[in-house]
Amino acid sequence: MSEALFEIAELPEFPDATVCVRDAFGVDADYRAPAFRQRTAYVPEVDPAYRFDPSTTMALVMGFAEGRRVLVQGRHGSGKSTHIEQVAARLNWPCVRVNLDSHIGRIDLIGKDAIVLREGKQVTEYREGILPWAYQRPVALVFDEYDAGRPDVMFVIQRALEAEGRLTLLDQNRVLRPHPSFRLFATANTVGLGDVSGLYHGTQQLNQAQLDRWNTIVRLDYLPTEEEAAVVLARAPWMQGGENEKLLTQMVRMAELTRTGFAAGDLSTLMSPRTVICWAENYRSFRDLEFAFETAFLNRCDEAERATIAEYYQRAIGRALHPDGTRPWRRAAPGKPVSTA
Ligand SMILES: Nc1ncnc2c1ncn2[C@@H]1O[C@H](COP(=O)(O)OP(=O)(O)O)[C@@H](O)[C@H]1O
Ligand SMILES: [Mg+2]
Repeated sequence: MSEALFEIAELPEFPDATVCVRDAFGVDADYRAPAFRQRTAYVPEVDPAYRFDPSTTMALVMGFAEGRRVLVQGRHGSGKSTHIEQVAARLNWPCVRVNLDSHIGRIDLIGKDAIVLREGKQVTEYREGILPWAYQRPVALVFDEYDAGRPDVMFVIQRALEAEGRLTLLDQNRVLRPHPSFRLFATANTVGLGDVSGLYHGTQQLNQAQLDRWNTIVRLDYLPTEEEAAVVLARAPWMQGGENEKLLTQMVRMAELTRTGFAAGDLSTLMSPRTVICWAENYRSFRDLEFAFETAFLNRCDEAERATIAEYYQRAIGRALHPDGTRPWRRAAPGKPVSTA
């Protein structure tokens, strides 16, 4: 975690403006959400191409407005993490994301005593962890990949969730009160029942008592075809217009086939919207659709599932995949002069 995070920025204490959800998120509701007038250090960048899911948006907006704890659940790449960030970005709400999937431990969350040099002497000083840091500031803290958190981390979070209105730092003998504008969110691939699909390796079973502490659990799924194509198009503008745009719709269809196949148990890997974006990017780089597809997706799939995927490919794209993989380039003939251009 970067040191800069712990430099205390001058943050405005309370929302001092409102934002109309119809204008800001395209949700058909007459609700004005509290917001900050000023953009400050921890406010995420606005992504103008982001498409808000109306129900998830309203759940998150209420999370910000009323301090409800919202857990967003959904398959990978459905846009959970960015959804929270993009709501924060529109409300100018400072937002800090902690990925529990990484090697985050209890100490990173809570903080620790560190030995520092002060006027030539060694002294012990308490360094605040991310949790107490955010807890006392007008900041939305997002626990990303919540179901992948290590047990020691989950134990700390459980304490924070249980204590209505205070956080006890046992090692420090301190009791903290939350800042009135502190907010808590989380994202998860599973609903804490552990991983039945085998897809989300490393996820933990969540304690039901702990799940109970989340006021709102929303499910975010993949977008309908046209909308997903629009999202990819915004990220891959070279696919705009004519044949390319038609091709893009077929690429999204291909992704959908892998998701249906996954749900039916025919595939163990699926294409997320991120994979489709990656495919379009590789296509731009390599100018070969099949090689782009193989490098973006196929080469990380189970060998035994290649035939199924080839069949989907034929169905969605109308072309055959080479059983041994595409090799668009040949070795140059020896003795040819090296180009210096
Ligand atoms: N509704 C959407 N609008 C625009 N981009 C999206 C949307 N959903 C997903 N994406 C894009 O897909 C990628 C994956 O999103 P992410 O939030 O990391 O997913 P998750 O946290 O669910 O795994 C990001 O690049 C994100 O911008
Ligand atoms: Mg995520």
